Amino acid sequence: MISAKMNIKTLTLRNFRNYENETFAFGEGLNVLTGKNAQGKTNCAEAVFYLCTGSSLRIRHDRQLIRHGQSSAYLRAEAGSRFGTVVLEAEIYDNRRELRVNGVRVARAADFLGNMNSVFFSPGELRLIQDGPDERRRFLNLSISQTSRPYCVALQRYQKILDQRNNLLKERDAALVLETLPVWDEQLAAYAARIVKARREYLAKLSPLAAEAHAYLTDGAETLALSAERAYPESEEEIRKKLVRELADAYERDLRLGFTTVGPHRDDVKVMLDGEDARGYASQGQTRTAALAMKLAEVEIFKLLSGETPVLILDDVMSELDLPRRKKLVEKVKGLQCILTCTHAERALYGKECVKLTVRGGRLVP
Ligand SMILES: Nc1ncnc2c1ncn2[C@@H]1O[C@H](COP(=O)(O)OP(=O)(O)O)[C@@H](O)[C@H]1O
Ligand SMILES: [Mg+2]
Repeated sequence: MISAKMNIKTLTLRNFRNYENETFAFGEGLNVLTGKNAQGKTNCAEAVFYLCTGSSLRIRHDRQLIRHGQSSAYLRAEAGSRFGTVVLEAEIYDNRRELRVNGVRVARAADFLGNMNSVFFSPGELRLIQDGPDERRRFLNLSISQTSRPYCVALQRYQKILDQRNNLLKERDAALVLETLPVWDEQLAAYAARIVKARREYLAKLSPLAAEAHAYLTDGAETLALSAERAYPESEEEIRKKLVRELADAYERDLRLGFTTVGPHRDDVKVMLDGEDARGYASQGQTRTAALAMKLAEVEIFKLLSGETPVLILDDVMSELDLPRRKKLVEKVKGLQCILTCTHAERALYGKECVKLTVRGGRLVP
């Protein structure tokens, strides 16, 4: 059923990170980007991801992406999808940015997201399971947002109201706070219920795909299952009501702590290996394999939901995996565009057909 393959054909970077002006030409299959440390491999991977999602996983402020001493950065990708060629552009200034799709300016990040799906995998994601819930929530939020605009919008509104509620909780006048909170909570719970429901549906689809990828990676030695950590009622309306109650029950604690202690921004994903909670039970190798399986499942879910394979960005992960997993990963990524960075390209592993690129000091080596 899947025939279409999203792929980036060219990537132009001007005054982005350590790049002054460079254009990359990628192949539709495996692209291996090599270079010594601190030459610009991750920067290139980050640029691809930024153009796919409108965000970077590494930064808090877009201005960090601007090359030191410059006033703006420019990124452009020409990409292919089943809808034809898409041109994605981003112009980043000190405190604002402009995003364009096919030359047309988009006002909201939600409109930029979803034109090109991408899965980003770096050593950070290998800690998806061992680390705290933040990483797993980020995984869910980004992954669902790429395929569901309503989710992306609900999440943004939720976050905004949450920030306002948290500011309110820091007010001194407790009486005023208690009077105002219910107004915020009604809105907050409505968006929260949408988020909770979408995550549950997504996890129900992701879990069997992750189990399948995991069985492939481990030759069926262990079973992997993913689910929402917290149980919520079935319907969105019931979830909303429950959250309104929980928010009200937590007023005293929230006031004391100065932030909102209940809601989907605190929820986690339960990762079970052979029926046991993987955190604190699985070895480092096992949790890495499980994280890889989650990421491969993300690739599959994009195929399922959009009918197109996403662009897979593998930044510096190969050196963190053992040879059998490396081989399996390379085997698995056949049939989609992959941009892989590493310090040493293992020729035997990547084969002859891959496109090889080398960067040095923010320049492509001819
Ligand atoms: N905004 C920036 N302006 C100029 N150089 C930058 C900027 N951000 C990062 N760099 C430089 O980019 C280099 C790191 O590139 P990176 O892609 O992370 O390396 P690697 O090839 O090891 O993945 C460092 O030398 C860093 O100083
Ligand atoms: Mg790097």
